[in-house]
Amino acid sequence: MSNALLAVVPPSRPVPSLADDVRAGLLSVPRELPPKYFYDDRGSALFEAICETPEYYPTRAEKALIAAHATEVIEASQPQFIIELGSGVASKIGPLFAACAALDLPTVYCPFDVCEAVLIKTAALLSGQFSSLEVRPLQGDFTAGLEHLPRLPGRTLYMFLGGTIGNFTDPAAIALLSEIRAMMGPEDRLLLGADRVKDAAKLNAAYNDAAGYTAAFNLNVLSVLNQAVDADFELDKFSHRAFYNQREAQIEMHLESLVEQSVTLGGLGQSLQLASGETIRTEISRKFSSQSIASLLSAAGFQIEQHHSGPEGEFSLLLASPADA
Ligand code: SAH
Ligand code: TRP
Repeated sequence: MSNALLAVVPPSRPVPSLADDVRAGLLSVPRELPPKYFYDDRGSALFEAICETPEYYPTRAEKALIAAHATEVIEASQPQFIIELGSGVASKIGPLFAACAALDLPTVYCPFDVCEAVLIKTAALLSGQFSSLEVRPLQGDFTAGLEHLPRLPGRTLYMFLGGTIGNFTDPAAIALLSEIRAMMGPEDRLLLGADRVKDAAKLNAAYNDAAGYTAAFNLNVLSVLNQAVDADFELDKFSHRAFYNQREAQIEMHLESLVEQSVTLGGLGQSLQLASGETIRTEISRKFSSQSIASLLSAAGFQIEQHHSGPEGEFSLLLASPADA
């Protein structure tokens, strides 16, 4: 679907289609799916609900850090443009806009997300809230290369919040951060949010909220596949499993088959055999120490200018600049 409000960022390298990802990810063991397929209209709405649950602390922790340090971040970066990768509904940026306005910076905000519905909602919300702000939504896949992001004529603050960097393995995270780095001029900055290693009980609770939004969000990816590749997943034959893997320092999200079953993938002309108890891994969410997030940034060619993490080190908000600039 096209929408006049949104500029589409075309991929800058070939990316597998959903059908390719399903073929490669589901028809062999271990079974896994890329997380971007969570975010259809319903998935994005469920993610918003997750962020409001009492258990999911990262949103509140990051919001508080941004509110406390917005002036410092904006004074150091002086952005004329802000590009946010995986913006969602941009719920954390109010204090940053306010700090831009206080410095008389006429900042243009470009939320970049795979989910069209979320961008339309975000643009409408922000234009109502901040009348002086120009919003230019960009729709695309940040795993498909960043070379076709618009070339912006001014100092740019790239933002990657929400701990989304944790949804990548180390090599993939370094590759993505290096691509951001390659887009940047010496005056540009990166604002990165990363979740921290902490008590396993708190981590486990955050991905197993009592109201069941996380379970519904995880299971929703099966509805996405039902539509996209004419599959016949029955959601009540699967269950949400999320747990902290201490050795890997990551939350792992799985969908567990509750029975032995065969699922038809009509669009692929294939079927998927699942044993009872077998799982499909749908996401990892890595948790960092202040050293591990620093070495990730350094490996991607950044130097850290500010590192805010609050009194208990619950979450890290980092402002980084190109290392050799
Ligand atoms: N930044 C927000 C949302 C985090 S959830 C917050 O901090 O709360 C991750 C967001 O990234 C979702 O809005 C999702 O639609 C988007 N996303 C996930 N994979 C993506 C991809 N490959 N390309 C672009 N956006 C993606
Ligand atoms: N980026 C978020 C995170 O890693 C995504 C997320 C939160 C998520 N809760 C989830 C993904 C539940 C899948 C299921 O924290």
